Amino acid sequence: MMHVPVLTNEVLEYLSPNPNENFIDGTVGQGGHALTILQKTSPDGKLLGIDKDATQIENAKSEMKYFGHRVVLVHDSYVNVKNIVERVQFGPVSGMLLDLGYSSWHLEDSKKGFSFNKDEALDMRYDSEILNPKSQILNELTAKKIVNEYSESDLKRILEEFGEESFAKRIAKEIITQRKIKKIETTLQLVAVLERAIPRKFHHGKIHCATRTFQALRIAVNDELGSLAKALPLVLSILEPGGRLVIIAFHSLEDRIIKNFFKERAEEGIVKILTKKPIMASDAEVLVNPRARSAKLRAVIKL
Ligand SMILES: C[S@@+](CC[C@H](N)C(=O)[O-])C[C@H]1O[C@@H](n2cnc3c(N)ncnc32)[C@H](O)[C@@H]1O
Repeated sequence: MMHVPVLTNEVLEYLSPNPNENFIDGTVGQGGHALTILQKTSPDGKLLGIDKDATQIENAKSEMKYFGHRVVLVHDSYVNVKNIVERVQFGPVSGMLLDLGYSSWHLEDSKKGFSFNKDEALDMRYDSEILNPKSQILNELTAKKIVNEYSESDLKRILEEFGEESFAKRIAKEIITQRKIKKIETTLQLVAVLERAIPRKFHHGKIHCATRTFQALRIAVNDELGSLAKALPLVLSILEPGGRLVIIAFHSLEDRIIKNFFKERAEEGIVKILTKKPIMASDAEVLVNPRARSAKLRAVIKL
């Protein structure tokens, strides 16, 4: 399934790519945004695309094959962007995009257990393949491991902190009870546990009652907030003066980290904030792309 990129016009407005400038897409996915950037930077602007998911890098390769030498794709985490730029000798960098989280492909086709509507093994790792061939280290933390091995208090904390789930305590308790009877190995098994824990009248609210738990597990498995906080200063350090940084967040936890980081750097005179308030998708965009509903875009320019 093709991922429909969100806020594409706004990404272009704030990244403001010119002919022959080089850009980094730190979450290249299937290359939706990257392709629009490449069109604006022709004939010679280069694009470095990074993704933590090896299959997404393969997907991006086939989407961008016509751009030949103008595209460099690297399977890695954007947290390592500084090393990657040095390793592949990429630059000068006029801007970087981060479009955080998972793509529609992860939900629909990856078979990694991101969706509560499909019966799949509880994995949720973007990097379910070895990320760094040199170290041969595989991320061993899966959603299955968290659900079956973490203590009740750790489960509760993860659900509260990363899911803002108000039934965290009841869910953590029910997980412990049920996993003693039978190991929780699949998404639908977990959904059944959640339905036991969450009072029935909350089962059919505006969002599915499994939404917050699945979000919390995904964030924990991939250390999504830690990665973002670690990466932000590194990303700024590799931009040229005048370079633009555009970030799209999909929940308030991410957005808060970005907002505070931008505010602090602006106070220090390192960046200028281009978006006083976060930019959100129009009703028309949300209608055709429901994923855009929760997207918030913020941008700065390096001084
Ligand atoms: C919302 S999608 C990006 C979609 C892309 N902008 C497009 O238009 O097709 C987010 C992507 O970021 C990747 N990702 C998540 N965490 C990452 C990390 N720490 N480093 C690099 N990529 C990451 C995911 O595998 C996913 O493919």
